[in-house]
Amino acid sequence: LSELRPWLSGGTAATAGGGGSTGGGAGAEKVGRVRCSRRVWVLLGSLALVFLTSLFFTISLRGGIGFNYLEPPGWEESRRVKLVPNYVGAHRLSPADTSQQKTCACSHCVGDPGISDWFDENYEPDISPVWTRDNIQLPSDVYYWWVMLQPQFKPHSIKQVLRKLFQVIPGRSPYGSWDPGRCLRCAVVGNSGNLRGSGYGATIDEHNYIMRINLAPTVGYEEDAGSHTTHHFMYPESAKNLAANVSFVLVPFKTLDLVWITSALSTGTIRFTYAPVKQFLRVDKDKVQIFNPAFFKYIHDRWTKHNGRYPSTGMLVLFFALHVCDEVNVFGFGADSRGNWHHYWEENRYSGEFRKTGVHDADYEAQIIQLLAKAGKITVFPGK
Ligand code: C5P
Repeated sequence: LSELRPWLSGGTAATAGGGGSTGGGAGAEKVGRVRCSRRVWVLLGSLALVFLTSLFFTISLRGGIGFNYLEPPGWEESRRVKLVPNYVGAHRLSPADTSQQKTCACSHCVGDPGISDWFDENYEPDISPVWTRDNIQLPSDVYYWWVMLQPQFKPHSIKQVLRKLFQVIPGRSPYGSWDPGRCLRCAVVGNSGNLRGSGYGATIDEHNYIMRINLAPTVGYEEDAGSHTTHHFMYPESAKNLAANVSFVLVPFKTLDLVWITSALSTGTIRFTYAPVKQFLRVDKDKVQIFNPAFFKYIHDRWTKHNGRYPSTGMLVLFFALHVCDEVNVFGFGADSRGNWHHYWEENRYSGEFRKTGVHDADYEAQIIQLLAKAGKITVFPGK
């Protein structure tokens, strides 16, 4: 303002001079000048007031309002949190690098470009499969898609729920970037009955990461399904206690699932979602990870292409592996001759139900698995 003052007084003097010539006398000129300068100050004051009020509202709306069903996620935080984790950029080698260099030390690396156009067009190496402190905020399209998967009547603030959860579990991605000196071999083990009598156990156990799903047992099935597990993917209604050193990866379908895992690792207040759930869960808290809804939608959009209401847990795990591993080998995927998703440990009579409901598209998923194998990105062990 002090810098503006000479300019303002010059301006007011000129205007007042004009006014004075109409009024005639020096007194009238002075009064006119004072009035005019007052008006300018009033105008300036009003402008400052408007500016400060809008600034105040911007800050309070961004920082002060919670996050519930009525608010688009963009309102959640003033700081836009990136969808991708810290290793972004480091993960993808520059085109010059990739033409010269392999992304890993295995004989075939998932990340190597130029092998399949279909794969390269759809593969997005920078989306984090894990929901962490760094990508709490979901893009609005992801948010609205995800909350409709299993709609809830009682709204929860995602931001608050995740903040509480990340006081109990690390909330960080443990996965690093590609390293031409590394060969991280992963076995994705589905629950198909085709594992029965396959004798794959020893082959599965040779992998660095062994990923299992839902109820998958190993005790008593070692010869066909292996005995080691590094990652176990479950949703609340399928969750079971895990051995020490196994990473529990929660696949959440609703905010209540995040409330449940926080409770199951601490106070035990939640016992029911749409079905009974474990009140307490015995798993290694430091190894719990949350499947990122943005990654979930990416698989639905890019890979299963909206066939089925959402991808099966097996598909989610397969693509998780394709984004954290260098080599991916697939076991225990495939329906029986009648198209049922039978299990290797039981006779599950109603395993074809999802076909009627349209929740998953088993045929489309089977085609994707074949295409990935054809593209040299995975090896499928077909079983018996
Ligand atoms: O039956 P459940 O969902 O626990 O199985 C885990 C995953 O294994 C499924 O989501 C599906 O992708 C895969 N599966 C399969 N063929 C079967 C059984 C399961 O491909 N017969």
